[in-house]
Amino acid sequence: MTGTSSEDISPQRDAQLQFKREAAQAAVKYIEDGMAVGLGSGTTASVMIDALAARVKNENLRIRAIPTSEASGEQARRLGITLSDFVQDPILDIAIDGADEVDRKSLTLIKGRGGALLREKIVASAARKFIVIVDDRKIVDSLGSRMPLPIEVIPWGWERIQTLLISKIGARTAHPRTEKDGRIYQTDNHNFILDCVFDPITDATSLARDIAAITGVVDHGLFIDMTSEVLVAGQNGVASLRR
Ligand code: A5P
Repeated sequence: MTGTSSEDISPQRDAQLQFKREAAQAAVKYIEDGMAVGLGSGTTASVMIDALAARVKNENLRIRAIPTSEASGEQARRLGITLSDFVQDPILDIAIDGADEVDRKSLTLIKGRGGALLREKIVASAARKFIVIVDDRKIVDSLGSRMPLPIEVIPWGWERIQTLLISKIGARTAHPRTEKDGRIYQTDNHNFILDCVFDPITDATSLARDIAAITGVVDHGLFIDMTSEVLVAGQNGVASLRR
């Protein structure tokens, strides 16, 4: 028999969910009464929002939060977390988010599998402390080894940007992300995402600079020099990585 049966997958999924919960629980302990908090996006961030909402309810914690996606905002609102904006809170005390890959040494991240990279980067850059929560599968020796790099581009002329990403920047492929029905996926900002496969990334800083220089690129999923701490959940509990 080829492939993996559902009996094989389910315990693994359970373990991953448990790791997400453990990392999320460790992260929300950083949040104190009165703080302005950035809320990430994705499945791990969603578990973290649940954990934070439980603290808000049980401990009467008064916080204000800026979400990084419509989905995270909706979840937070539904669970009773007060939402804020950059007028009220130009600087956030802390932001907590997941990641797709974490470079073991530099703690540079690849983010954006959930399509929220632009707002995630704005929120992370406004935070005094940026905490990343992952399970240990996401820690890599070379960025780009597990996941393509998502690049958010404006819809008009995306084919031209795709050509440049391949011919000038060296992406092997740069496919537009699609929905199940084949339509091109649009971000909360109504842009497209090109998921770019590179050879393992050895110089994230110069790659980021070259990508950002292409007209029509809105942003990319490389988060460089932003991470304060990574909380990594695995079989042996939650470990902390700092630069
Ligand atoms: C959302 O755009 C992403 O940056 C997520 O933070 C990242 O994809 C991690 O998501 P999961 O926690 O769902 O793996």
